[in-house]
Amino acid sequence: MTTFRIAPSILSADFARLGEEVKNVVAAGADIIHFDVMDNHYVPNLTIGPLVLQAIRPHVQVPIDVHLMVKPVDRIIPDFAKAGANIITFHPEASEHIDRSLQLIRDNGCKAGLVFNPTTPLHYIEHVMDKIDMILIMSINPGFGGQTFIPQTLKKIAQARRLIDESGRDILLEVDGGIKIDNIAEVAKAGADTFVAGSAIFGKPDYKAVIDAMRTQLAT
Ligand code: DX5
Ligand code: ZN
Repeated sequence: MTTFRIAPSILSADFARLGEEVKNVVAAGADIIHFDVMDNHYVPNLTIGPLVLQAIRPHVQVPIDVHLMVKPVDRIIPDFAKAGANIITFHPEASEHIDRSLQLIRDNGCKAGLVFNPTTPLHYIEHVMDKIDMILIMSINPGFGGQTFIPQTLKKIAQARRLIDESGRDILLEVDGGIKIDNIAEVAKAGADTFVAGSAIFGKPDYKAVIDAMRTQLAT
């Protein structure tokens, strides 16, 4: 039986009350906290860095999954590991040496993953499958919360699921962008087991109600 994980993205949280927001969302049943890092270079937006991760870390008892939307990636990886990241993912086209960056994440004591934009080919993982703990499929173009799920990415999620099953390794398949109560079941059916949701959770007054409704959908 698949274990499904809900990973609220704090990008849509109230940053003036971030500590309280992460505590509330963990109490509401979050399995993972998704931490979006944007550099105004790889993506056209600027968000948060290791200092903010370090500040929220004591308030979070679940793993923190750091999604790096930055280029280059290597210099900043040890800083996020030191600040308390559990999983660090990056976009392969943002690194000159993908194998080196994955190894760097692992050497710093974190789990490592690659992120694929809607049009980035999955073949980047072919020779590094043994260094990967997570595949993250973007179901939007990265840079902003609140965008609409791109249905063409369902096929790619299914392709990634096949690759994971063939590898026989324990690799999480996470999907990020436009996940809501009404499409999460379809995304799970395509093969995902971990679901990032920003605006669907933080945009609503009752986080637990949304997470519970997502779990109900996943149980169907
Ligand atoms: C966007 C980020 C996402 C974002 C998702 O580039 O990677 O994690 O927060 O937000 P929603 O769930 O609102 O699409
Ligand atoms: Zn993300």
